Amino acid sequence: MTHTMEHYHQSAGAIRSRLGGFTPKIALILGSGLGFLGDEVENPIAVDYKDIPHFKTSTAPGHKGRLVFGTLEGQNVAVMQGRMHHYEGYSYEEVAYAVRVLRLLGCDTLIVTNAAGCVRTDWQAGDLMLITDHIKMFSESPLRGENLPEFGPRFPDASHLYTPRLRQLAHEAAGELGIPLREGVYFYCYGPQYETPAEIRAARILGGDAVGMSTAPEVIVAGHCGMEVLGFTLLSNMAAGILDQPLSEQEVLDAAEAAREKFSGLIRACLRKL
Ligand code: HPA
Repeated sequence: MTHTMEHYHQSAGAIRSRLGGFTPKIALILGSGLGFLGDEVENPIAVDYKDIPHFKTSTAPGHKGRLVFGTLEGQNVAVMQGRMHHYEGYSYEEVAYAVRVLRLLGCDTLIVTNAAGCVRTDWQAGDLMLITDHIKMFSESPLRGENLPEFGPRFPDASHLYTPRLRQLAHEAAGELGIPLREGVYFYCYGPQYETPAEIRAARILGGDAVGMSTAPEVIVAGHCGMEVLGFTLLSNMAAGILDQPLSEQEVLDAAEAAREKFSGLIRACLRKL
């Protein structure tokens, strides 16, 4: 279904009525197994997706399906514990619906995290990657359909979706913490099957460094409505065909668990600098 401005305002209004005057500024979308940061929010107000009109629920493993509002490192945040994916049956517009609602609520910055397969053979599973750009050219846009000019223009520029200033800040934060931070291009594949080895070779030729099933739709919508974006990938596994072993969801969740401290330290350091 295509949503109108009225839908977005209804969702935002329902959430606002729960926030008692609190205004979030930074939205965080936390991916597979990385939702724990939402549990660390101070003075939390949690709103379940199912209680927000027009919101979809996230069914993916390791995704709680709620928004947590409050403060982290002194910043007013809105944390999405669990995101929606196209492979769950949602349209791209539905996948990114929450981003626009958070924009209406006051967020001007989006921090996205995900777990993804490592396409580069010279990197390792467990590494963290700052997203510099993405490739999502083989599936339709979340902006398809009638444009809503209140959010942005019909043909938005996508030259700097991952805000250069924030990328610089992330590298500084990582350097201060002594956390090695790769940077590279996120190659979007819609899943839910993991890629074939041939698809991974294709992604590599096309310039992808990591491959995953999320993030790009939300970032396109965030850029459209003028938000600054910072994106991090946990390279949870070597992509298909690199190692002689099958890919599994358990491997992804185990990697997320193992990266917990590193990941939360980095995000927190970025929040302090924002
Ligand atoms: N491919 C796609 N999505 C993923 C992967 C992968 O290898 N790992 C975690 N999410």
